[in-house]
Amino acid sequence: MKTYLVTGGAGFIGSNFIIYMLSRYRNINIINLDKLTYSGNLSNLTSIVDNSNYKFVKGDICDKDLLENIFNKHNIDYAINFAAESHVDRSILEPEIFVRTNVLGTVNLLNIAKKYWRLADTFESDKRFIQISTDEVYGALGTSGCFTENMPLDPHSPYSSSKASADLIVKSYYDTYKMPINITRCSNNYGSYQFPEKLIPLIINNYLNNRPIPVYGDGKNIRDWLYVEEHCRAIDMIIQKGKIGEVYNIGGHNERENIYIVKYIINVLNEVTGNNKISNKLIKYVKDRKGHDRRYAIDPSKIENEIGWKSEIAFEDGILKTVNWYLNNKEWLNKITSGEYQKYYENMYKDK
Ligand code: NAD
Ligand code: TYD
Repeated sequence: MKTYLVTGGAGFIGSNFIIYMLSRYRNINIINLDKLTYSGNLSNLTSIVDNSNYKFVKGDICDKDLLENIFNKHNIDYAINFAAESHVDRSILEPEIFVRTNVLGTVNLLNIAKKYWRLADTFESDKRFIQISTDEVYGALGTSGCFTENMPLDPHSPYSSSKASADLIVKSYYDTYKMPINITRCSNNYGSYQFPEKLIPLIINNYLNNRPIPVYGDGKNIRDWLYVEEHCRAIDMIIQKGKIGEVYNIGGHNERENIYIVKYIINVLNEVTGNNKISNKLIKYVKDRKGHDRRYAIDPSKIENEIGWKSEIAFEDGILKTVNWYLNNKEWLNKITSGEYQKYYENMYKDK
């Protein structure tokens, strides 16, 4: 019976990963360590909270004593590090917390895992540290080409720079100690339980509240979108089949301009709700993000050829599922967007 330590498991991708894994395997234990920052939400996990193979620990990956206790008490086989400050716009306003959690927290986790997994000069071979990283560490692309794993890192935002720093530290634990690590670099995720500061749930939330939908700059920046369950499946496969020390890009060939995404989702919402009064008039072009990366696009050939993972959910199907999820979970959305979120939103968009 393998034991997974999932950090950041109350966030968007972490909670989807826990739900995915517990629905797939009966013979695993999952410990979810999460600080419950603004983006961590235990109600994401109500469907599995009573599962006897699941345990929640509230805490910070920067807390050495707490991590020591967890590794001491449980025989952790896999550490999957989702815990992070994850929003580029927030990183532009407050970079320090990104360095603390994303860099120092990762080093902390590596150190404790190394201490418990190391046998004399080598490592227990069936352990694995998975660093959940992002394609943003590669920087921005021009009009052609895709990110491959061997590209130099060239991050621009404080967020992506903190993730790139963490990637380099994780890699150094393989290069130096032969620690069994993998680094995954995924493109933009969308799906259920995503905090509505990110583009897709923000579009849905603003539409439902008849609020302008802010489009940064000319709206022609390009992101490469992946449905979150596909990301979870890829991580599971990398834990099973990934070659120690390797980096894997994860993406589904779904490049779209932001303005296309906004218009497409408004149309889907119009169709699903039957509310044709709301139209593209909600779109509001606003001041561009500072240092806004123009284009991201993943080349997933390595994970496709070496691991056998391939994206299977078409963008249109993933968006429809996502829109329906938000429409069916308005209580979740209303709760998460009341209070602090309103202050965040007003502050973030006041100069735009
Ligand atoms: P999220 O913001 O929804 O969740 C982050 C979670 O980490 C929250 O539950 C939060 O409470 C927790 N957390 C934050 N600081 C912590 C700390 N110090 N100790 C313990 N827990 C802490 O983020 P997400 O979108 O789910 O992203 C998860 C991971 O995936 C991140 O590492 C992110 O860089 C990476 N990633 C995200 C995307 C995307 O599109 N969302 C794409 C590629 C990679
Ligand atoms: P986001 O969801 O923040 O992800 P990331 O910046 O990590 O890629 O943003 C996705 C794209 O959408 C990015 O090009 C910025 C743009 N964007 C807007 O145009 N308006 C918005 O209100 C937000 C949040 C993002």
